[in-house]
Amino acid sequence: MTGSYGDSTRSVKAVASEYVPGAPIAPPPVPAAAYHIPFDEDDSLDSYGRRSNPTWRQLESALAQLEGAAGALIFGSGMAALTAVLRTLAEPGRKVVVPADGYYQVRAYAAEFLAPRGVTVTPARCAQICDVAEDVGPGDVVLAESPSNPGLDVVDLHRLGMVCRARGATLVVDNTTATPLGQQPLSLGADLVVASATKALAGHHDVLAGYVAGSHPEVMQRVERERLLAGAVLGAFEAWLVLRSLGSFGLRFERQCQNAAAVALTLRSHPAVRSVRYPGLPGDPSHAVASTQMRRFGGVVAIELASAAAVHDLVGRSALLVGATSFGGIHSSVDRRARWGDPVPAGFARLSLGIEDTDDLLGDIEQALC
Ligand SMILES: Cc1ncc(COP(=O)(O)O)c(C=O)c1O
Repeated sequence: MTGSYGDSTRSVKAVASEYVPGAPIAPPPVPAAAYHIPFDEDDSLDSYGRRSNPTWRQLESALAQLEGAAGALIFGSGMAALTAVLRTLAEPGRKVVVPADGYYQVRAYAAEFLAPRGVTVTPARCAQICDVAEDVGPGDVVLAESPSNPGLDVVDLHRLGMVCRARGATLVVDNTTATPLGQQPLSLGADLVVASATKALAGHHDVLAGYVAGSHPEVMQRVERERLLAGAVLGAFEAWLVLRSLGSFGLRFERQCQNAAAVALTLRSHPAVRSVRYPGLPGDPSHAVASTQMRRFGGVVAIELASAAAVHDLVGRSALLVGATSFGGIHSSVDRRARWGDPVPAGFARLSLGIEDTDDLLGDIEQALC
């Protein structure tokens, strides 16, 4: 029956714990550094806060359900999750393919911390990654980001999964932009999902978190061991904030996708806008592949205006867009990506659509672009 539930029902069910008579329906966070353990220690007990926490378990169970995974592990940020996976899997002498047009700090991490340790780092754009993966071998790692941030190009995940499987490589997919309500990479052939929960999942611009989801017990155990030893853990209160937000995720994400689709369609024919990218837009170069693997197309739209000043003016004249370098939150926001060094034109702006009313957003953006 749960398979047929809609996204909002799935979000609410994912955070609903076992109901105990007289206990809170929504259990409070359990901040704990140390737990009482008898001297003849029982390994199944919670013992220390860097190893396990009841609030983590609730959040991990919710994330695993949404991703269609056997398990999930939460981390202190999306980067903490991503780098834990790379440290666990990318051994010296192996090759790691990283997104050339994806989140720039992942590339920076690979270049500064993996390459000097003997890992061959190969950046590949979404359009080339399936071909580049033809050259990987057993034990290598392919990290794909789809849709990519900020260009919103899409990788054919099913094809990439087949290429990686045939070569014995591990396919890791960054699902931050799509979210598990947009696509489930594990069902398309990925071995692991990594994501920043800081974005649409938590969705309120007030907490950093990340997670890894997967179904191979051995790999998940190694990642968990890495988390224990490296210590990039999430605080219990932050885990609870994400959990609390997750109940409204389906509702929020539905509105964000609706707003993004409407804004993309309107801006496509606006004279001040040179180009628009949105995988849900018919005619977008990514639309055909996106339609085969995504259920929803996300709340982010990429546009190009004439110059950096034009982006500045858009934010200055808007009453609803806030300048901010994140996405997925309830407030609509704008980020001019060239300022962070992304290889995009000066007037390239990433719009993150929030949960405001669609007509209000369209009216505000149109008047701000004039
Ligand atoms: C696609 C993608 N992956 C990972 C991250 C890193 O997430 P966090 O900022 O939570 O570390 C980001 C952050 O913007 C991102 O956009």
